Amino acid sequence: MLIFSKTILLLAIIIGCAEAKFKITNVKCLSTNESFAKFKTCRLKAVRRNINELSVYVKLLQLPIDNVKIVLQLKKRNDYRNRSIYEFGIDACAFFRNKRRNPLADLFYRFSGLKSHSNANHTCPYDHDIILDRYFIDDKFSSFIPLPAGSYEIQTRWETDGIKRVDVAAVIEAFD
Ligand SMILES: *[C@@H]1O[C@H](CO)[C@@H](O)[C@H](O)[C@H]1NC(C)=O
Ligand SMILES: *[C@@H]1O[C@H](CO)[C@@H](O)[C@H](O)[C@H]1NC(C)=O
Ligand SMILES: *[C@@H]1O[C@H](CO)[C@@H](O)[C@H](O)[C@H]1NC(C)=O
Repeated sequence: MLIFSKTILLLAIIIGCAEAKFKITNVKCLSTNESFAKFKTCRLKAVRRNINELSVYVKLLQLPIDNVKIVLQLKKRNDYRNRSIYEFGIDACAFFRNKRRNPLADLFYRFSGLKSHSNANHTCPYDHDIILDRYFIDDKFSSFIPLPAGSYEIQTRWETDGIKRVDVAAVIEAFD
């Protein structure tokens, strides 16, 4: 069951009503076919007390890639059935072609800080490996995501040509 509708989530983001800070505490990367994509790096590094930096390097072996679907699922951990709080699918190529057509994703993308930490920050096609370099969730981004303190998992599934290629999942602790 989805608890937040997109509208409510958007309102909560705009109002910025939650103050919890986030820390990435675990990450898992899985390729379903290593002839297609292979992870060279998938790690967290503690840099400051409340900051772990995430670095991911995925080698792509069948280039170019001109269609990417990302399915993101946010779950609350350890409570009743680890329920899903939010689920969201996006056509990444269409998004980068025209960000204004998806204002919610655009808002997330801009506040996430992903743009300056990843070389995937451009329009399709992708004809190179994908790198996420020393990414962390800063306070500015945390304050825009209305989640109470607790433990969460973000699961992302990446598809091309309708085939699941990689899964990246991270555990995130939200604390006051
Ligand atoms: C894995 O990917 C390669 C390259 O795209 C493809 O030739 C092969 O059939 C795939 N294997 C499976 C089991 O899907
Ligand atoms: C909920 O998540 C925790 C941590 O990921 C796991 O150990 C537990 O088995 C999960 N519980 C259910 C009912 O899926
Ligand atoms: C895209 O990411 C690269 C590598 O992290 C960075 O050097 C570049 O400035 C970014 N581009 C934009 C438009 O932010």
